Amino acid sequence: MSSLPDGELELPVTVPSLRLRKARGDRLVMLTCYDASFAHVLDRAGVDLVLVGDSLGMVVQGRRDTLAVTLEEMIYHARAVRRGLRRALMVVDLPFQSYATPERALDAATRAVAEGGAAMVKLEGAGPVLESIRFLSERDVPVCAHLGLTPQSFHRLGGFRVQGRDEAVAIRLREDARRVVEAGAELLVLECVPHELAAQISSDVAVPTIGIGAGAGCNGQVLVLHDLLGVTPGKRPRFVKDFLEQGGSIRGAVERYAAAVRDGSFPTLEQSFE
Ligand code: KIV
Repeated sequence: MSSLPDGELELPVTVPSLRLRKARGDRLVMLTCYDASFAHVLDRAGVDLVLVGDSLGMVVQGRRDTLAVTLEEMIYHARAVRRGLRRALMVVDLPFQSYATPERALDAATRAVAEGGAAMVKLEGAGPVLESIRFLSERDVPVCAHLGLTPQSFHRLGGFRVQGRDEAVAIRLREDARRVVEAGAELLVLECVPHELAAQISSDVAVPTIGIGAGAGCNGQVLVLHDLLGVTPGKRPRFVKDFLEQGGSIRGAVERYAAAVRDGSFPTLEQSFE
C-alpha cells in the first residue's frame, strides 16, 4: 500500500523529519480530522499529517464559511483528535483574527499547543502575517503557512476562487512562499492554485508544500475528510475525489487515498486547475 521504506509507518512524524522527507522525494499524506475515532482510523491507515482545520465550521457546524470558528472550538476538537493519534503529526488551524498581531498569535498558539496538543499551528496568508509567523517560529511554535485560496479571506476574495491565474498574483504568490519560509514556516499548504505555479513554488522552497486543488507537483496532498468520504453536501469541488465511492470500509478509503498520494496518481490533471 505504501512506497515508504520498511518500518517508516511505525515512526512518529516529527517537524524536523518533514524537510528530510521532501529531500528524499517522499510524498506527504495529510487529511483533516475533527474527532478521536476518525483520528484513530487515519493514524492506523498511515496518514502522515492530521489537520484539525477550521473547515470544521463548515463540515461539522454547517456554516457557509470558517469565519465564526472560535479558538475554544479548535482546542476542543484538537484535544479529541490528539487522543486518537500515535504516529501522525497534528497541525491545528488558528482561527480568523486570532493571529492578527504577534502577541495574539502567541497567546492562541500557546493554547493550541499546551491545551490542544498541537505540534504545529497553521496561519493563513503572508504580508502582515509574516511577523506572527516569525514571532511563533522563534518561540518554539512550529508553523504551517497557507497561501493561494485562503478561506479566512472569503470576503476580500469574493468567495472560494482559484488564485494565481493572473500573472501579477502568480508572481506575488511565489514571493509570498519564499517569505513565509524565510520567516520560519516548516510546511506550506497551497490551496486552489494552478498546478504549474504550485510546482514552481514547490521547487522554490526547501520545506514541503501540501496541495489542495494545486496539482500533483506539490510534495504532499491534503483533503477535507468529509470530501474524501463523499459526505459533504452540495456540489463537489473539481479537486475532490470520493475514495469511498468504490465501496469497502472508511479505513480502506483512507488507505487508497494515502497510496494514491504516495504513488502520484492523485490528483490527476482533471482534479487540478490550469
Ligand atoms: O481548514 C481546513 O480544512 C484547511 C484545509 C482546506 C487545508 O485549511
